[in-house]
Amino acid sequence: MSDIKYPVYRPNLRGNESRYVNECLETNWISSKGTFVGKFESEFAKYVGAPAATTCSNGTVSLHLALLALNVGPGDEVIVPAFTYVASVNAIRYVGAIPVFVDSNPTTWQLSIAEVAKKVTAKTKAVMAVHLYGQTCAIEELSAFCKQHNLLLVEDCAEAIGTRASETHVGLFGDIGSFSFFGNKTITTGEGGMLVSKNRDIIARCAHLKSQAVSAERTYWHDAIGYNYRMTNICAAIGLAQLERVDSIVAKKRAIAMAYKKCLAGIADIEFHNEQPGTTHSFWMVSIKTKNNPQRDALRARLAASGIETRPGFPPSHLFPMHAEFARGECFPVAEHLGETTINLPSYPDLTQSDVEFICSRFHP
Ligand SMILES: Cc1ncc(COP(=O)(O)O)c(C=O)c1O
Repeated sequence: MSDIKYPVYRPNLRGNESRYVNECLETNWISSKGTFVGKFESEFAKYVGAPAATTCSNGTVSLHLALLALNVGPGDEVIVPAFTYVASVNAIRYVGAIPVFVDSNPTTWQLSIAEVAKKVTAKTKAVMAVHLYGQTCAIEELSAFCKQHNLLLVEDCAEAIGTRASETHVGLFGDIGSFSFFGNKTITTGEGGMLVSKNRDIIARCAHLKSQAVSAERTYWHDAIGYNYRMTNICAAIGLAQLERVDSIVAKKRAIAMAYKKCLAGIADIEFHNEQPGTTHSFWMVSIKTKNNPQRDALRARLAASGIETRPGFPPSHLFPMHAEFARGECFPVAEHLGETTINLPSYPDLTQSDVEFICSRFHP
C-alpha cells in the first residue's frame, strides 16, 4: 500500500483552539475545573436547542451515564441496532442490561422501526437509537412509538453532530442524547463526550454520577457509586473553539458529500448514502454501498493503492464473541450485508473539489 495522501479523517483545528488551550496552560486550569467546561456545555446546549448539557470524557462513558441516569439496570432489555459501533452495545452491558438486537432499514442503514416493534416484551425498558454516519434514523416515528409503549429512548448521536429531523437537532427526541468528540468526529475535543436532554433533572443526575457522586450538601461526602468521567478544561477549550465554527464545518461536509455524489453518479453498482426527505444529513462520513463483499474489498484495495484511505462499515455487534449470545441464534441479514458492503470515504472538512474528483477518478479499475 502506498502512503496515505487522503486519510478518512483529519480535524481542522485552525480557529481559536490553540489560543484557548494556551489560556488553560497560562492560568493553570488544566484539569476538569475551569471556565471552558461550563462555557462549552452552555454553548453546546444552545447549539442543539437543549435546556441543559453536561460534558464527559468520551462518547462511550456518555452512553454509560445516560443508562445509569435513566435507571436502566440488570435484567432490563434494551433494543439496539445490530449495525452500530460496538460502544452502543457495550454501554448496555456495562449496566447489566440485555441488548436485544434489531435489523436495519436497507435504504437508510438505520434501525428498522418495524423490527423494533417485533422485539418489545414485558422486560423492554429502553430503545437505544443510533444515528449512523450523520444520518438520522426515523426518530420522530420512533419517539412516538416509545411514548406509546412507555419505553425510554436513548439517542446515540456520536456520529450526528449537525444532524436534524424536521429542523430539530437529534438528541432531543428521546429522554437523553449522547455525543462523542473523538478526533474524527464533526467537532472534536481529542477525546470527549456530551449529554443533552429536555429534562434538566436527567442531566443533573449524569453530572452527579460523572463526578464521583459527590454530595451537594456535604464536603467529601459521596451518596452513590460514582465515576470519574469528567472532561478536562483543555478538552473543553478545544471543543468551544470547534463549536464556534460548527455551522461552517457541517456546511463544508455537506458540500463535499454533494461533490462526491455528483462525481460518483453513473458508476455501476455503487449506492450513495443519501439524505432522507425532511432531515439534515450532516455527512459525518460520506458513505457508499457496493454490490457485494469482494467488490467492496477490491475497491478499497484499489483506492488504497492511490493513497486513499477508506473504512469498512461496522461489523454488526451480534457477530462479536462477547455479544453473540444475545443474538439468540438470530441472523440480521440487512446489518450483515451493510457490514460487508459499505465504505466510508475521506470526509474531512479540508477536502477540496479537486481532491474529491481525484478520489472518484480512482474508482475505475
Ligand atoms: C455510534 C457510536 N457510539 C458511540 C461511540 C463512542 O464514542 P467515543 O469513541 O468517544 O467513546 C462512537 C465512536 O466512534 C460511535 O460511533
